[in-house]
Amino acid sequence: MACGEFGFGRMAEPEQLVQAVETYFTNVPVAGSLDGLRVLVTSGPTHEPIDPVRYLANRSSGRQGAAIGAALTAAGAEVTFVTGPAEAPPPPAQRLVSVQTAREMHDAVVAALPVDVAIFAAAVADWRVLTEMGGKIKKAPDMTAAPQLELVENPDILAEISQLETDARPSLVIGFAAETDNVLDNARAKLQRKRCDWLIANDVSPETGIMGGKENQATLLTSSGEESWPRLDKDAVAARLVAKIAEWRALRTEKGETYAPPR
Ligand code: C5P
Repeated sequence: MACGEFGFGRMAEPEQLVQAVETYFTNVPVAGSLDGLRVLVTSGPTHEPIDPVRYLANRSSGRQGAAIGAALTAAGAEVTFVTGPAEAPPPPAQRLVSVQTAREMHDAVVAALPVDVAIFAAAVADWRVLTEMGGKIKKAPDMTAAPQLELVENPDILAEISQLETDARPSLVIGFAAETDNVLDNARAKLQRKRCDWLIANDVSPETGIMGGKENQATLLTSSGEESWPRLDKDAVAARLVAKIAEWRALRTEKGETYAPPR
């Protein structure tokens, strides 16, 4: 201690310092840094049936969500992974819930609460057809005109969970914004509109090759600022996000703040 002061110092243990420096420079989550943290992840597309053979969907390989799930589990989190019909294999997780439609995903998310952190990486279809046909819709010559599909909006899972006013609201809600134009402006508006805490924005225009590809270029938006990450492997994007969550958790623990109540 400096200037003639004496007594117990406040320096952290050297191992903790080494870990913090490593995390700072590599953005790799420390094993065990999320021990006991309950995290929900949604991933993949949803399929909204039109008839028994056709469906509406967004493009999504589920790779970024699976990478996030794997990084969370590796860091010690208790992961509930809710996935639509994705191409990427699911990550190791404490609980894996497979769904098809947005409404099923919504119900699985609600059933998984309370959790400490919820990450909505799924590319949920915004609409579904009002009336699903029980049999395959026929085309000409059996039908005289192309069918008219009436669409209705699906529940916005991220917005609903972000705006919960009960103890069931996760302490940290993270959304994604996959955009093709004015990426950051749209993402800023989305952060406000949905009222999540953090938002990961990425440009998914076809020329970026991000959609379905192995890499991603993300910007993390929070109420306190924006951080653009370089173009990285989806695993490295996941590692950065998990390291950020570990930092967030350490800060909250330091301040004595609690998470959502135990189940
Ligand atoms: O509005 P948009 O679909 O662009 O918002 C993207 C974010 O909202 C993603 O985090 C996605 O998982 C979530 N979302 C949702 N439920 C919907 C639509 C989007 O949870 N019905």
